[in-house]
Amino acid sequence: MWMTTLFLFVLFLVLVWAYSRHCYSYWTKRGVPSFPRPLPVLGHVSYMMSKKTPRWEYVDEMYKKHGGSTFCGLYEFFKPLLMIGDPELAKLILIKDFDHFVDRRNFTFTTDTDDVANHFLTNATGSHWKGIRSVLSPSFTSGRMKGMFPLVADKAEKLVDYLKKQRKEKDSSTFLLKKTFGLYTLEVIASCAFGMESGTMDNEDSIFNQKVAALVNVRPLRLMKLMLFFFAPKFCQLLGLTFVQEEMFFFVDVVKEAIAQREAGLYRGDFLDLMLEARENLEDPTSKTPKYPLTEMIIVANSVLFILAGFDTTATTLSFVAFLLAKNPEAQEKLREELRGLIKEHGELNYQGIMGAKYLEACFSETLRLYSPAHVTERQCTKEYKLPGTELVIPREMVVSIPIHSIHHDERFWPEPEEFRPERFLPENKDDIKTGTYLPFGLGPRNCIGMRFAQMEAKLIIAKILLNFELSCAPGFEQMQFNTDPGIMRPSNEFEVAFKPLVQSE
Ligand code: HEM
Repeated sequence: MWMTTLFLFVLFLVLVWAYSRHCYSYWTKRGVPSFPRPLPVLGHVSYMMSKKTPRWEYVDEMYKKHGGSTFCGLYEFFKPLLMIGDPELAKLILIKDFDHFVDRRNFTFTTDTDDVANHFLTNATGSHWKGIRSVLSPSFTSGRMKGMFPLVADKAEKLVDYLKKQRKEKDSSTFLLKKTFGLYTLEVIASCAFGMESGTMDNEDSIFNQKVAALVNVRPLRLMKLMLFFFAPKFCQLLGLTFVQEEMFFFVDVVKEAIAQREAGLYRGDFLDLMLEARENLEDPTSKTPKYPLTEMIIVANSVLFILAGFDTTATTLSFVAFLLAKNPEAQEKLREELRGLIKEHGELNYQGIMGAKYLEACFSETLRLYSPAHVTERQCTKEYKLPGTELVIPREMVVSIPIHSIHHDERFWPEPEEFRPERFLPENKDDIKTGTYLPFGLGPRNCIGMRFAQMEAKLIIAKILLNFELSCAPGFEQMQFNTDPGIMRPSNEFEVAFKPLVQSE
């Protein structure tokens, strides 16, 4: 009996190995380089999930050594994936031939519980995505951002007070970057998405904070579950598996309650109001608003999404800015001078001043070049595509990835790429930047919808902090240390910077 079991087990292993070999010949047959050797069943997923080497470093090695700077092939389990490193080809995919690459990696959620996720702008596909995006886009114009500026300024003031108070209370000038900026970005986005006073700076263990932390911290097991939805959607449907966590429904309820209040007459000028306004305009035949039915589910889903997409990315970016300014005191002082000039000119930090400040823009952009939280972006092929200038045909449903981090660190586009040089982004040098080589917010019709909002929110708090504190590296934190959990590129949770009050702000 045990001989039969052993035989069947060995046979199973041989079949799995043979099937893996068959699948992993896809790129060789097409003359596309692929490296390193994929592991049976897992393909390259095992390298991508390694806690030892961050994903972007692994991708970078491939980009540099194995043809990634044009394109190269990978395997996720048994599926081939194409990585495009050449900015010219990336531009074709993201902009010119976008109609072949409308979707991101498509996760099919079929249960009622998960329906909310099908309406997230990040996940919606085809004409549904196009419709939602066209109605939401007008909420992110500079005019709308200017209208929201006072809501953000209120929170920026609160963070400066928090830092001063904490310094005195804990008698230490060092602050955990991710935690500190997370308190700010969470309050900002909760206020601007749907008018919720999350109170995270007053109570760091608030229920709101805990729920968001549970949603944005992607544990490896959860990532595996998400992958199952991508690679075996039918299997998930058969078992009735659900993906959306119960924490999500806390926010769904909050937004539904906020909608009820708005319908009763409350108005704050936040994203929720703008979406409800857009819905009203749909009824008006004279309005120029794009026509796509904004159901309550779409409004709720995207209000919650703004928190998920905007909170961690912006807090992470701010952590990187603070570290780089601490490490580069000359740039920090130059920026402080510019900001003092703004106050002299405008009497205060207003929207025009912040958004027009050239050195502030340069420091912010150079930080995102060096440390791009979204170190990679993806598109899924929606219509077969022959890659121009090559014989390679990208079939429908294949995922194409663009290694943002590697392109940002390629010395062909960025001389001395590891140096922090904000001057690269000053107006007189901006023409030297080739389109397709700078992608912290992605590119093309499906780029980051929240870019302007993130810029305003981040630049304002950087300005407020520099006018009140001098930043310097905390002992033991002179080099960046990353968090290697799945998801975006982040500093480690323990990473600190020292905030010393400037004499005039004491
Ligand atoms: C510094 C902060 C941020 C960074 C670095 C960032 C980066 C990105 C990137 C790289 C993408 C993918 C673009 C592409 O595939 O071409 C993206 C998409 C997106 N981002 Fe952001 N983001 C930030 C802040 C925000 C904020 C504050 C919001 C919301 C208020 C937001 C909402 C979104 C949404 C909804 C999408 C999906 C757009 C679509 O599929 O149409 N992001 N972001």
